[in-house]
Amino acid sequence: MAELILPLDRPGRREALELVDDFGGSVDFYKVGLELFSRSGPDVVRELQDRGKRVFLDLKLMDIPHTVARAVEAAADLGVDLLTVHAVGGTAMLEAAVAAAGDSLRLLAVTVLTSSSSGDLAAVWGRPIPSVDAEVTRLAEFARAAGIHGLVSSAREVRALRAALGPEAILVTPGIRLPGGDAHDQTRVATPDAAVRDGADFLVVGRAITAAADRRAALAEVRRRMAVGAGAV
Ligand code: C5P
Repeated sequence: MAELILPLDRPGRREALELVDDFGGSVDFYKVGLELFSRSGPDVVRELQDRGKRVFLDLKLMDIPHTVARAVEAAADLGVDLLTVHAVGGTAMLEAAVAAAGDSLRLLAVTVLTSSSSGDLAAVWGRPIPSVDAEVTRLAEFARAAGIHGLVSSAREVRALRAALGPEAILVTPGIRLPGGDAHDQTRVATPDAAVRDGADFLVVGRAITAAADRRAALAEVRRRMAVGAGAV
């Protein structure tokens, strides 16, 4: 059954924990990103764990293999469940990350940031990029070959990635919206049922829940649709 991750897109520890306490036991998994981690560090992760929550640490690591391995080891020691690295860090970096992760931390690779266009990639890499989707799949296969456990991808890519990577890869998908909901700044959105049906294992759902007039009702609807997508109802 797919799981739900709520991103703590809040400026500081107090605001983040208010959100967590507001949802009580109804969300098990929270995402701590660069902003919150830069402000509040490992302490906010420990406070989540003290509340019985599991943590997705979205730090998108990329550096020399030794440095990334030490950072992964630190995250594993902290007891987070999921951690992101950049696929473009290369095979040696990815393999060092996997070796440092141990048995319980699962590593997710970011392929192409959804903010990057084919023109952006062509400028950075110095070659024409006719299809961003093809680059996403290529980098996903590259990361899996280095032993990375899963991928973060937009809902638009999840079906192709599931087909390319097989059943074992963990697929995590943001950009989830309820039908008729505001897309905000997301362009590649999907409903929870479609994302699960296409093969997502974890959905990162932020504003579709946190910006709803009735948050609890929105959360219940997201979960209901996830069950529909899984064929459970
Ligand atoms: O509010 P919303 O559901 O759009 O939030 C989605 C979360 O997923 C945010 O934390 C955002 O930074 C993250 N994310 C994303 N798109 C990506 C990667 C991460 O929306 N491609």
